This record gives sequence, structure tokens and C-alpha cells, in this order.
Amino acid sequence: MTESVVLGSIAEVRRMLDAHRCAGRSIGFVPTMGALHAGHQSLMRASVAANDITIVSIFVNPLQFAAGEDLGSYPRDLARDTDCCADARVDLLFAPSAEEMYPGPMATVVDVPPFAAPLEGASRPEHFAGVVTVVAKLFSIMGECRAYFGEKDWQQVAVVTRMAADLSMPVEVVPCPTMREPDGLAMSSRNIYLTSDERAEAPVLRRALDAGLAVIAKGETDPAMVEAVMADTVATASLATLDYVAAVQAETLVADGPLHGEVRLLVAVRFGKARLIDNDGGMVPGKPA
Ligand code: PAF
Repeated sequence: MTESVVLGSIAEVRRMLDAHRCAGRSIGFVPTMGALHAGHQSLMRASVAANDITIVSIFVNPLQFAAGEDLGSYPRDLARDTDCCADARVDLLFAPSAEEMYPGPMATVVDVPPFAAPLEGASRPEHFAGVVTVVAKLFSIMGECRAYFGEKDWQQVAVVTRMAADLSMPVEVVPCPTMREPDGLAMSSRNIYLTSDERAEAPVLRRALDAGLAVIAKGETDPAMVEAVMADTVATASLATLDYVAAVQAETLVADGPLHGEVRLLVAVRFGKARLIDNDGGMVPGKPA
């Protein structure tokens, strides 16, 4: 297993990536907050397969955590993460300090598109402004590249894709499928917060999505009815507290009347200290409009 080269400074990253680009090599970038797992490794492997050089960033971005969220307790283990990157044949690992990323207070932040307002945006009002600001900084540091994001954070993928397009960034955002445990639980760094009883109930998120998709497949088009079925499923888990369920159009992330065409179901649930999210997509049966 070849070690990934660990870089801490923005200048070093720019110098190395510029040299690779000058030599005609393509760059794949996987932004993460560390606590890496098989879901992250699937992004790394997608990047390694499609690019000459893969760089992973590990930075727990304070801007995207509100007061009272898990910034302080977010799992951090650089040695383990370094092994995880080497195992996936990642070339470079960018692990900056908070001072390197934010040497002073930020006077400039990136505003978010309207579809950042519902769902995660409603539950965590400061979250997406923090995400797009750090992702804009990371894209500026990386330069021309393909950037790999997991579809578990479906709304994040939509927001970041739109930001990169709106700001003419030389970055192709590549969404990658959610990786799941054998019982259907989406892989997440926050799963380690679950107690064993909560872990046993956590696949209820996957079951809620399946229940919603099943009624859509049978012809249900009323978003409220689909959401009720999803919420009833979550309610079968005694340790779960529902944050939201949503049945929306995949493209706009809102329901504009009866569901039609490509739809996305999303769910957010709290289990004790852990807040878990998941989503899946489907098609409303019937003739295309
Ligand atoms: O999805 C994440 O891990 C984070 O939101 C990201 C994209 C690395 C930005 O901090």
C-alpha cells in the first residue's frame, strides 16, 4: 500500500496540482470532513478510476455547524483517515488547519440558491452558506478538476453543482451513489454516535423511503400522502424523532402540485445524539408529459 502524500498548506496543493496539470494529468478531488468510511472510499475509487491524480481534503469546516451542533465532538482521526486514503490509492491528502483555511474572519461568503432553503436548509439555516463557502474555497484551491460528492447529501450535491455553474468554476461535480450497510442504513460518519439500540432501529430511514416509493409505484401522486406513509414508517421506530420527510420533484426539490416525472424522497431523523439523513429517487408511473 503506497502512502498518500499529506499536505497542509494551500500553496503546496496549488504547486503540486499545477505541476500535474502542466504535465497533462487530470485531477479528481474528493472533499470530506474526515472520519472516512467505505462510502468515502467509493468516491475515492470513482475518482482514481477516472483521473490521473486524486486528492482528498479533510477539513471539519466550522462554518457549516450551528451553535449546539456536533462541531466539537465530530470524529477526528487523521492517522486512520490517512490509511483509508492509501488503501483507496489516493495520491494526495490535503489536511489544512483551521488557521490555514480561515486566517481571519470571513468578510466574503457565498450565498446559496433558493433550493437550499427547504429541507436541510430549514432544519439547519446556516448550514448551506457554510458548505458552499468552504466548497468555493476548496474549488478555488484545487483549480480545474472533477469533484466527487455522495448522493446521500442530495441537496448538498444540488446546491454545490449550481454554485459551480453559476460562478463558472472549472469543476465538474460528479454525484456518486449512496453506499449502504447490509441492512440498508446509509453509511455516514455520524453513525458512530448511535447506541446499539439506536443502530438496530436506524434502517427505518431506508424503510421509510421504500414505503414512499412503493405507494408512488402504485400510483399515489399526492406529496402529502406519500409523506404521511414515510412518517408513519419512521414512527414504528421507538427511539426515532422525525425531523422531516419530503416527497419533491428531483430537479427543483419542491413539490409543485401532484408528483410527476422524476421525484426524490428525503428523510431526516434524530436518534439520540445522531441526526441521520437519507434519500432515494423514483419515477411517477404514467406517460411522459
Ligand atoms: O459533505 C461533507 O463532508 C461536507 O459538507 C463538505 C462537502 C466536505 C464541505 O465541508
